[in-house]
Amino acid sequence: MASSSFKSLAPIALVFFILLGTSSAQLTPNFYSSSCPKLFPTIKSVVQSAISSEKRMGASLLRLFFHDCFVNGCDGSLLLDDTSSFTGEKNANPNKGSVRGFDVIDKIKTAVEQACPGVVSCADILAVTARDSVVLLGGPTWNVKLGRRDSRTASQSGANNNIPPPTSSLSNLISKFSAQGLSAKEMVALVGAHTIGQARCTNFRAHVYNDTDIDATFAKTRQSNCPSTSGSGDNNLAPLDLQTPVAFDNNYFKNLVSKKGLLHSDQQVFSGGSTNSQVSTYSTSPSTWSSDFVAAMIKMGDISPLTGKSGEIRKNCRKTN
Ligand code: HEM
Ligand SMILES: *[C@@H]1O[C@H](CO)[C@@H](O)[C@H](O)[C@H]1NC(C)=O
Repeated sequence: MASSSFKSLAPIALVFFILLGTSSAQLTPNFYSSSCPKLFPTIKSVVQSAISSEKRMGASLLRLFFHDCFVNGCDGSLLLDDTSSFTGEKNANPNKGSVRGFDVIDKIKTAVEQACPGVVSCADILAVTARDSVVLLGGPTWNVKLGRRDSRTASQSGANNNIPPPTSSLSNLISKFSAQGLSAKEMVALVGAHTIGQARCTNFRAHVYNDTDIDATFAKTRQSNCPSTSGSGDNNLAPLDLQTPVAFDNNYFKNLVSKKGLLHSDQQVFSGGSTNSQVSTYSTSPSTWSSDFVAAMIKMGDISPLTGKSGEIRKNCRKTN
């Protein structure tokens, strides 16, 4: 009886789940396959040349996608410039003096517009660029879901509120990701992106001077290029992964296990709390991390996309049409 009533309900349940997934179901890897068949090689060649001029750029480009997706979804809002009558996200606290790579996105957009004018959104360019950056620095690949459209608005307060600061505790990190529909497990997989790139003294000062969950020798090393008081040293850089900051590998998690996380927030995911065992696993099993990272990137890319007739396809990623 139970089993036969389940069978009769199955098609209804199926329709229900399809409807439930509607917003992200419209994103698909082959969205541009007929409208812009050369999209992938066009993007990849610009990313490749940017990374060969400066390897750090791969990290900067990956970060742009995260900072875009956490503010009203992956809609290209981060890319809009401030004007006298428009406040964008670039001057929000997590972004100001920190996010970089907008000139590379401009180059990609120019190349893509030449190949297929008016077709590809800036939001999708960020998604593909993030994947290509990871691959070019030696990380895993995945099929990027596409079909996002660009916002006509941005939210500076959203950027300030939604993107977690490096002073975050583990529970703050978990709640900021949860607010975006991402689990604690996905948060830990995603923050492994800090296996590449650099951070400024202003963001790791308190951790290397005042925290106790840090290797003493490592703390001293980082103090040497980061004065204890704010001022001229604020922008001095240090690698987020002290071992291989331009290689997308699992050394970030090995660092955490040996108390060599650069940011307070990094070390929080291995400081005796609920995420410790996951960090240990990733530190010894790069393939487990790779597959979790890929799944979490795809899920992050699904956050509230504008699809169908919503939003627009910007001509210039820096301004609305
Ligand atoms: C878990 C919460 C996170 C916090 C608190 C955080 C915080 C930060 C901070 C403070 C910096 C250095 C910025 C600077 O000093 O100018 C940074 C850099 C970076 N972040 Fe995160 N982040 C987080 C998650 C993520 C995620 C999910 C990704 C991507 C999937 C990511 C990718 C990066 C990359 C690649 C860099 C280096 C950028 C560069 O070198 O230009 N971060 N992050
Ligand atoms: C370390 O903590 C002390 C005491 O709270 C504070 O006065 C000092 O500014 C902190 N130093 C840094 C570098 O954060």
